[in-house]
Amino acid sequence: MARVLVTRQLPDGGVNPLAAAGHEIVTRAADTPFTPAELVAAVADVDAVVCLLTDRIDDAVLAAGGDRLRVVANVAVGYDNIDVTAAHARGITICNTPGVLDDTTADLAFLLILSASRLAHVAEADLRSGAWHGWSINQYLGRDVHGATLGLVGYGRIGRAVARRASGFGMSVLHHTRRDSGEAGWVDDLHRLLREVDIVSLHVPLNDATRHLIGAAELAVMKPTAVLVNTARGPVVDEVALASALTNGTIFAAGIDVFEQEPTVHPALLAAPRTVLLPHIGSASVATRTRMAHVACSGVISVLAGETPPNVV
Ligand code: GLV
Repeated sequence: MARVLVTRQLPDGGVNPLAAAGHEIVTRAADTPFTPAELVAAVADVDAVVCLLTDRIDDAVLAAGGDRLRVVANVAVGYDNIDVTAAHARGITICNTPGVLDDTTADLAFLLILSASRLAHVAEADLRSGAWHGWSINQYLGRDVHGATLGLVGYGRIGRAVARRASGFGMSVLHHTRRDSGEAGWVDDLHRLLREVDIVSLHVPLNDATRHLIGAAELAVMKPTAVLVNTARGPVVDEVALASALTNGTIFAAGIDVFEQEPTVHPALLAAPRTVLLPHIGSASVATRTRMAHVACSGVISVLAGETPPNVV
């Protein structure tokens, strides 16, 4: 029997695989992130950690795990909150949750594409606040999604799931990846893709190559009618540049689910027009969040059993 720290609450039944495997679960009732000092203290004397994307797993945390800590499993597909290089240097395995959240996240990307393009959130806010005084032909004129050209930046599992949805809307789909995908619609140059498409949806992981991938220069080449959607990671977009592009009419609208300094949202972005903002809910369905918890726990169970699970980073 091993001791497994679960840093925050998981969905109902999320830790069941750990319990079924006979492991001791160390957790706490509060559903708030540990402070860095609390996290360092909590990883002492555990064999494994199941953590959330709100936990920063840096070398100090990994070091605090000493020789006992063998595996850290992030209940997320993105793992930019974990110092993977430091973990590997210490012989600690890192797991994530690929594959189980693609469709749920793609659904949300499409929700943002639709809401931002059709200004549904603007119209809804007016209706609720009493600012809608009756139908008029020039009200809330958005951009059509059907028949538009969609540009996917990043073309992994989630990007492809968005592409499948786009085909139902009769959209043309282009994608940009650094390496040639070898597939129809690949555009080698990011600026060329941004110039050509009506809607841009971001599906890259956050790393040194993608931090501020979309900044003032990229927004400047997009069409003034374009819509930008980000369900990947906040720092992929320069929020200040985005806010000024929206304010200046450099682009038409944006749909944003992830932020540079979560849970803080830059005031300029909050004030920007035609912007729909959601609090990082891309994978937030009961079924998907439960599956994510199970995949993370299964990774821990396999590593503790001396096996290599499929979800090793
Ligand atoms: C959520 O943002 C995830 O990376 O799973």
